[in-house]
Amino acid sequence: MSTVDIARYADRRARLLAQMPPGAVAVLSTAPEVARNSDSDYLYRHDSYFYYLTGFTEPEATLVLIAARGEAPARAILFCRPKNIDREIWDGYRYGPDGAREAFGFDQAHAIETLDDKMAELLANAPSLYYPLHHASSKLDARVAVWLSAVRAKARTGVTPPAGTVDLLPLLDEMRLLKDDGEQAIMLRAATISAQAHIRAMRAARAGVYEYELEAELLYEFRRNGAQAPAYNSIVATGANACVLHYSANNAQSKDGDLVLIDAGCELDGYASDITRTFPVNGKFSAPQKRLYELVLAAQAAALEAIAPGLPYSGAHEAAVRVLAQGMLELGLLQGALDDVIANKSYLQFYMHGTGHWLGMDVHDVGQYRNVNLADKPSRVLLPGMVVTVEPGIYVRPAEGVPEEYWNIGIRIEDDVLVTAGGYTILSAAAPKTVAEIEALMQHD
Ligand code: GLY
Ligand code: MN
Ligand code: MN
Repeated sequence: MSTVDIARYADRRARLLAQMPPGAVAVLSTAPEVARNSDSDYLYRHDSYFYYLTGFTEPEATLVLIAARGEAPARAILFCRPKNIDREIWDGYRYGPDGAREAFGFDQAHAIETLDDKMAELLANAPSLYYPLHHASSKLDARVAVWLSAVRAKARTGVTPPAGTVDLLPLLDEMRLLKDDGEQAIMLRAATISAQAHIRAMRAARAGVYEYELEAELLYEFRRNGAQAPAYNSIVATGANACVLHYSANNAQSKDGDLVLIDAGCELDGYASDITRTFPVNGKFSAPQKRLYELVLAAQAAALEAIAPGLPYSGAHEAAVRVLAQGMLELGLLQGALDDVIANKSYLQFYMHGTGHWLGMDVHDVGQYRNVNLADKPSRVLLPGMVVTVEPGIYVRPAEGVPEEYWNIGIRIEDDVLVTAGGYTILSAAAPKTVAEIEALMQHD
C-alpha cells in the first residue's frame, strides 16, 4: 500500500468546506462496481470527484463533510466497507474504517452499512445539504429523500431538517479545473508514458499490420510503465477508418500506403492523457498525405500560439479553423473567400469537431468553458494550472468536387497542454510530430 499524501486531500476538503455555510453538510459517494458478465466485474474505477477529495480507491464508500459551526470544528467522515477476512481472501485487502481513518486522515470512519442511520443524525439541524443533485450516475436523490424524511420524523423533538439542497459538483468542477503541482506531475508522467506508447506503435508498424496488433503495442507500453488502464477506448484506424471519428473496432488490416491514426492515452493514478498521432504505415508520407499533414500541423502550431494566461479558451479553436480553412482553399478542397468559408462554416465538411477540451481526471474533464456569470457568456479566460488538449484534424470523405488524391485521408494531431505563468508546456512533447521526426523514427530495414 503506497503512502497517501494526506495533506493534499485534506487541503482540498478544507477549501471546499470554506465555500459552505457554517454547519452545512456535504455528501459524496464513489462509483458503483459494474458487472461485465456473470461473476465478473469491469475493472473497478473510482468516482473522480470522490477520489479528488479522499484519495480512497475502494468501492462502496461515501464521504460526509460537515462545515465548522461555532465551537464545533469541521469534520470529514468516511463510510467504507468493514474489514472482512473472508472477503479479503477472495478479493484482496480492504482498509476497513479504522485503517482508512488512519491512512487517509479522516476525523471519523464508520462501516458503510451504518450510513442511512448516521445520516439521519448528521443532517439534524444542518442548515443545508450539498450533494450531486439530480446527477444520473450518483443516484443519491432517492437516498437523500429517505434521510430527510427520517430527520422530519423527529420534528416533535425540535429537530429541523436542512432548509435547502445545493448541487455540490459545480464547486468541485471549478477546483478540479486548476491542477496543483502534484496533479501536474502525474499528468506529465501519464502523457510521457502515452508518448512512449505511440513511439512503440510507430516502430511496430509495417504494411499489412492489423490495427489490433498496434493497439496491443500501446497497451503493453501503458501497463509496463504502471498505468492502470487506457483512459478511453483506443482508436487505431488505418486508411479510410481514420475518417470515423470514434472508430473503435480496431480489427482491419492495413494496406501499403495507408496512414494510421492512433488516438490513445493511458490513465495513471486517476489522471488521463489523450494523444493522437497520424503516420504512414510504411514509414513514408505520400505527397498528398504530406500536404494535408503539414496543414494540420500548422493549424496546431497556430492553436498553440493562442494559449497563454489571460487569453480566451476559444482562441485555439479559432486559430486552428483559420489555418485549416485557408489550407482547404489552397488545396482545392473548398472554393471561395476565407472569411466566407469561416462565416458559413463550410470547413465543417472536413473539420467537424472542436480543437480541444479540458483534460484531467476525466478525459473530457469538468469545468465550464464559458463565463456563465456574465450575460453574454463569453469564453472563459485561461489560467496557469489548466490543462487542455489541442487536437486539430482533417477528414476527407470521397465527394464530388473534392480532389481524388485526398479521398479517405484522415489526420489528427493531439497534444496535452498545461497552461503556465509564462505560456504553456506540452506534456506530451515526447511523441514525435513533424514529418521528418516520424519518418526518421520509422526507418527500418
Ligand atoms: N480521445 C478523445 C478525444 O480526443 O477527445
Ligand atoms: Mn481529446
Ligand atoms: Mn484523443
